[in-house]
Amino acid sequence: MTLAELDSQQAGSLAEVTAAADAAALEQVRVRYLGRNGLLPAIIKQMKDVPAAERPEFGKRVQAWRAALERALGERVAGVGTAKKEQAAFDCTLPGRWPSPGAKHPVSRVIEETAAIFARLGFTVADGPDIETRFNNFTALNTPAHHPSMDASDTFWLTGDRLLRTQTSPVQIRMMTCHTPPIRIITPGRTYRRDTTDATHSANFHQIEGLYVDTKPVSLADLKSTLAYYAQEMMGAKAGVRFRPHFFPFTEPSVEVDFSCHVCGGKGCRVCKMSGWIEIAGAGMVDPRVYEHVNRARGDQAYDPAAVYGYAFGFGVERIAMVKYGIPDIRWLYENDTRFLSQLA
Ligand code: DAH
Repeated sequence: MTLAELDSQQAGSLAEVTAAADAAALEQVRVRYLGRNGLLPAIIKQMKDVPAAERPEFGKRVQAWRAALERALGERVAGVGTAKKEQAAFDCTLPGRWPSPGAKHPVSRVIEETAAIFARLGFTVADGPDIETRFNNFTALNTPAHHPSMDASDTFWLTGDRLLRTQTSPVQIRMMTCHTPPIRIITPGRTYRRDTTDATHSANFHQIEGLYVDTKPVSLADLKSTLAYYAQEMMGAKAGVRFRPHFFPFTEPSVEVDFSCHVCGGKGCRVCKMSGWIEIAGAGMVDPRVYEHVNRARGDQAYDPAAVYGYAFGFGVERIAMVKYGIPDIRWLYENDTRFLSQLA
């Protein structure tokens, strides 16, 4: 091959690079010229037949050709890739992206609705921390040392006699320690227990506590009418309330509170396990011993057990959400599955 032929071959190869339509065509050009059985390796092999005087110049031009061809191929391959990406970015045939509007979580709904209902009765919302002291969570709530919830297997203990609160009741103590009667608060928040998670249990759940304390007499009848009003506002006008005797260390007398089943109206169905009633809350009249603990914490006698009257109640938020919205498994409330959450939108 003469030098002139070499130049024309080079020009042809570069023209092929320019003309190639896509990455596959460019690869064909590369294989044809630079591949193991391509034209350039063949020319190099035949260099021995080039007259000795021309050989150095011939060799230089072959190397220059190779370099020019590789550069041209590299540039085109990169260009084809970018063009492809640009095309994808502007693909107007793809369906549009729709914003997926969220919905308020059932737990938040129950808390907000409850706050609104109790606000109509003069209750305000108070807050307390998730990490509590032994005193606020147990001692001041008249809970004896042998109570199972004091046990490490029932409760998340931290260092320094602190724990993740097992109930929202300690906010009662915080409130009374800092304020004098009258008190009317509800306090929603997270609570923690060493429960194994299943359809009706979770180690982390929410409660709403209520506390009413005044120097004017208040009785179990007031508690019942308050909770009956709440039941009707929350579950519907036909909702009824019943009290069953129970025990809680910090109330005396204590009751468990049932709402009449809103699904069957009290006749008996699967939701209420054929009883017509659904257990919702614990409640009672504040035990005088709680006032004594509060006085000790305050260092005064602001809560004279003979002269203050109060009731308290506490219920599980998830429980109400499950009953109200017909949610069979508590875990659904924590999985962030939008198929579930969007149903209340
Ligand atoms: N703290 C109780 C619990 O977690 C519920 C409760 C019962 C709260 C009676 C109260 C009450 O305020 O008076 O089981």
